[in-house]
Amino acid sequence: MNMADVILGVQWGDEGKGKIVDSLAKNYDFVVRFQGGHNAGHTLVIDNVKYALHLIPSGILYPQCKNIIGNGVVIDFQALDSEMQQFERLFSTTQNFHSTTGTLSSNSCLIDRLFISNRAHIILPYHVALDRFIENNRAKTKGLEAIGTTGKGIGPSYSDKVSRNGIQVGDIFDEEILHTKLQANLVNLAHLPLAFDIDSMLSEMRGFAKRFAPFVADTTQILWESTRNNKRILLEGAQGSMLDIDHGTYPFVTSSHTGIAGALSGTGLNAHDIDSVIGVMKAYCTRVGNGIFPTELHDEAGRFLQQKGMEFGTTTGRPRRCGWLDLVAIKHAIRFNGCTKLAIMKIDVLDTLHEVKVCVGYEYEGEVIDYMPYNLNVKPIYKSFSGWNGSARVREFSKLHANAKRYIEFIEEYTGSKVWLISTSPEREDIIEIP
Ligand code: GDP
Ligand code: IMO
Ligand code: MG
Repeated sequence: MNMADVILGVQWGDEGKGKIVDSLAKNYDFVVRFQGGHNAGHTLVIDNVKYALHLIPSGILYPQCKNIIGNGVVIDFQALDSEMQQFERLFSTTQNFHSTTGTLSSNSCLIDRLFISNRAHIILPYHVALDRFIENNRAKTKGLEAIGTTGKGIGPSYSDKVSRNGIQVGDIFDEEILHTKLQANLVNLAHLPLAFDIDSMLSEMRGFAKRFAPFVADTTQILWESTRNNKRILLEGAQGSMLDIDHGTYPFVTSSHTGIAGALSGTGLNAHDIDSVIGVMKAYCTRVGNGIFPTELHDEAGRFLQQKGMEFGTTTGRPRRCGWLDLVAIKHAIRFNGCTKLAIMKIDVLDTLHEVKVCVGYEYEGEVIDYMPYNLNVKPIYKSFSGWNGSARVREFSKLHANAKRYIEFIEEYTGSKVWLISTSPEREDIIEIP
């Protein structure tokens, strides 16, 4: 029996993956983040209280749920520590949370609730500095443009992983190995106008080794064991399919496989373990950072979506670029991920618009096409829909306005993928399920 379901974004990130994972997590024994790092920002809203998650999986609010940071993730320990402290404070009745500066976290209330893969890679100060250095260099180079990264060191950390110079979580428990690896990496960086202090890095890691020891595990073995015991697993993607390193809008992408391939390589599960692949999409489209965005709006409608949708980055606070739904891009994502179902988010944001448009094809080199070409130098072709009102907080499909239903049905028809969930507000319970 297949034990694992996958949640992944089918646009440029920020689709609402966190809300969907949180809404479904009550039915799962494990929630697993499989790629990305603290570039992700997943928002959960429960009874008006907002939680912003970056590294901790979105099943953390359920006591029955074990949360795994898988081997495919890159971890900034400082960021993880502050995120964990938030939940340690929240969950703990006594003040037994701990900082990185020394004390053992042997009585943290997250023990047995959060696991960190010993194979995950670490983000070090030189990755963050390199991220900025490379971005500045791109920005200054004629003919290039900065990617608009989150500046968190994600790309350089994954680069080290792929070039086999990465430092894994398991390495922090052996100071000699750690010292040797750090020293070799700093030699590789010596030609750059950047300075790093190995002693302060080692000392920081000593603190982290104590702090995180109770959480570090061979998470692949945990997952294999859990599949043998018929446990249910939910895999939580970060970023979105258009930011995938291979199938996204390269080079304006992130540095990991954000799709189904990352779900497997980033956990150790195999294709036979997977049951559903749920593609999460907004009812319109957003993107943060630079790079091509065929349906981007620079007019009143774009500003409406940004304001009504509160489209500001959860991680960096940057305004998100907004545009109409691009079904050509969504179909591309559904195809390479094998999405079996869709979750459509933020349909309520479109309430009150008189007209809603959807991109159903591209004009490309004098032809009309329905796929994403290599250079995406395209002009969108739109289909227009009459608008609707009153979808906010609706929980039954029958209660949606006829025009909203038509919009949803068209998405289903165009993509050939079943719409399973429709989200009508940020709140956990405001979801329509279509059986
Ligand atoms: P993620 O990165 O995919 O988890 O998405 P983010 O959390 O970065 O961005 C989604 C934003 O939309 C968050 O602020 C959510 O609280 C909010 N949100 C999610 N679903 C809905 C919805 O159906 N309606 C509205 N209005 N907001 C939503
Ligand atoms: P969630 O999980 C939206 C974007 C950045 C930039 C590009 C590369 O919340 O959906 P990086 O720092 O990863 O090297 O930046 O990817 N990006 C995201 N955009 N949502 C995210 O995560 C993102 N994570 C990275 O803005 O364009
Ligand atoms: Mg986000």
